[in-house]
Amino acid sequence: MTIRKASRPLDGRLYTDPDVFDEEMERIFSRTWVCAGRLEELDEPGSFVTREIGGESVIAVRTAADAGGGASNGGGAAVDAAASGLAAFYNVCRHRGSRVVDECAGRTRVFQCPYHAWTYGLDGRLVGAPHMGQDFDAKSAGLVPVRIGALNGFFYLSLADDGPPLAEVAADLPDLSRFTPERLVRGDRHEYEAQANWKILSENYNECYHCAVVHPELNRVSDYRNGGNLETGRFFVGGPMTLNDGCDTMTASGLSNRPDLPAIDIPDRTSVQYYHVYPNLLISLHRDYVVTHTLWPLAAARTRVVCEWLFDPDTAAAPGFDPSDAVEFWHLVNSQDWDVCARTQLGVASRGYRPTAYEDSEACIQVFDGWYLDQMGL
Ligand code: FES
Ligand SMILES: [Fe+2]
Repeated sequence: MTIRKASRPLDGRLYTDPDVFDEEMERIFSRTWVCAGRLEELDEPGSFVTREIGGESVIAVRTAADAGGGASNGGGAAVDAAASGLAAFYNVCRHRGSRVVDECAGRTRVFQCPYHAWTYGLDGRLVGAPHMGQDFDAKSAGLVPVRIGALNGFFYLSLADDGPPLAEVAADLPDLSRFTPERLVRGDRHEYEAQANWKILSENYNECYHCAVVHPELNRVSDYRNGGNLETGRFFVGGPMTLNDGCDTMTASGLSNRPDLPAIDIPDRTSVQYYHVYPNLLISLHRDYVVTHTLWPLAAARTRVVCEWLFDPDTAAAPGFDPSDAVEFWHLVNSQDWDVCARTQLGVASRGYRPTAYEDSEACIQVFDGWYLDQMGL
């Protein structure tokens, strides 16, 4: 497979033009598998969430007990919806189109439209439609399905009726099984609204050229020149960074009292793995915890970012468990990053934006930008 690398930073309009944004929603967020959250949000039958993807509101729900889903790549395939007891639908009533669910998350036995009370089961089937009479074919009036699948403890949504199965993404990704991602539990979650295009946030994640300047605390733990080999595939880019001597994780001290995740390798004790799984998952894997950022484009210059800190369930259940060293460290780094991303957003909107060249350590950006240009047919 040839990997396209952008030869220079992207044109300004790609970060600012509302028409480009709409086209991205169509060509990227409506066609690819979008990482939508952790499966633990859909832990019991009837647990549901809503997500905005590609300009669409989507309901994701657990219809039945987990049939052993959440398999990781490396050891197994992504789990399809039926096997894992998951379903997803457009949040649009089949009567006359009202939005059905307003809540971001909840638990229910049925979805009832607030307009004329048409009622849908967890599997999307229409189970009640007042006064509709015998001739009405309720079977053909279920909620319109959206593809959903499970991978590495996350659930993914795809608005595309065709396109590659999630298993194809799973097969392409690096093997993360040693971090046991499917069994990790959330220790904390922060939501941010960054005043920057989702690609500026992605590009910023994909390089550490800025780290000495922007993140002095991070640079004390992981020097910005310590990037390892670039890894890439059809659906991701990333690679490791070596930690500084005496450091074994990302906290202010470079240490933590948490045990290693159960299956990690010796090199994982002295490095952190960073991957961008296209389009919207940034996953950073440490010996003792995992941080994820999911990017939710709101407009050309605004992005919601959900940051989650994941831990081994035994560690998280132990008395005295305290994730604050990891949370505070990444919260600081996040804030520093959103600030420089907002500054960049101001610049790319200027007539004076005449970008020149990438620095060598920005190779992951070149790969991401190349992928982006391909998706956009540019
Ligand atoms: S639009 Fe939903 S019941 Fe009428
Ligand atoms: Fe950064």
